[in-house]
Amino acid sequence: MKVHIIGGGNLGVSIALGIAKFSPNNQVTVTRRNTASILHLEKLGITVSSDNTHNIQEADVIILTIKPYQVDTVLAEILPVITNKIIASAVSGLAIDVLQEKTKFAHHAVRIMPNIAAQFGESATCISFNEKDKTEGESVVTLFHDLGTALVIDEKLMDAATVLGACGTAYALRYIRASMQAGIEIGFDSQTALAIAAQTVKGAAQMLVEEKVHPEQLIDRVTTPQGCTIVGLNEMEHNGFSSSLIKGIKTSLKQIKG
Ligand SMILES: NC(=O)c1ccc[n+]([C@@H]2O[C@H](COP(=O)([O-])OP(=O)(O)OC[C@H]3O[C@@H](n4cnc5c(N)ncnc54)[C@H](OP(=O)(O)O)[C@@H]3O)[C@@H](O)[C@H]2O)c1
Repeated sequence: MKVHIIGGGNLGVSIALGIAKFSPNNQVTVTRRNTASILHLEKLGITVSSDNTHNIQEADVIILTIKPYQVDTVLAEILPVITNKIIASAVSGLAIDVLQEKTKFAHHAVRIMPNIAAQFGESATCISFNEKDKTEGESVVTLFHDLGTALVIDEKLMDAATVLGACGTAYALRYIRASMQAGIEIGFDSQTALAIAAQTVKGAAQMLVEEKVHPEQLIDRVTTPQGCTIVGLNEMEHNGFSSSLIKGIKTSLKQIKG
């Protein structure tokens, strides 16, 4: 496929790099107005342009990774030169119906919510599309499967997906930072503490993904009765560990919904 990414910022570049590394049969173009900071992508075979319409007629999928307030400007540029395209939008809050209206019902609108781990083939991407665009939506699912996990969800859950999947990256990183800080307090230098904390989280996630079990089943395997793990875990819970995470996620969702 030829993939045309408009908005070569944090997310757009992550997707471009992910495709170049993990889905190399696809060709990628990335655009942004000021390309100086992303010209290095050309070394990886990615086309970089400041012209949003650059070879866009040849694209199979157009991915929008721009801010909501930039959508109308970008559509005004590209709509006159494209016909019957798949437009996959990662723009937060932009509903499929609204995108269809904005694109005059002449294209296939797909809504995607990836995260920046796409760059490492590890994005949790949630995808929604209407029944009439099923074939095109499935081709976007196939593309994002190469960049991690791709899950088709009801569009009603897209805000929740934004919180759990995209904001979730920051929550996980904050957990790792806290572990790192504790690691320093109990004797490690910061780099060693970070290496241990990050790999431990990666390992825990890998076990869940591969074994497809409930987290508590794995927790049971590492908690000895009266041992150091369970006392630490319970102390965290007494201090509101799970509760604070749940409240944080619900607060993020409230903020998105306005
Ligand atoms: N970051 C994430 O983890 C994440 C995850 C899921 C969804 N999203 C959503 O993805 C979108 C982008 O987020 P982001 O964090 O990647 O933002 P970002 O880093 O600010 O990237 C947006 C990019 O769009 C470019 N741009 C602005 N106007 C443009 C135009 N007229 N034509 C072409 N390019 C244009 C900007 O570059 P120039 O100024 O040089 O043009 C900028 O590089 C947002 O809607 C966000 O909610 C982000």
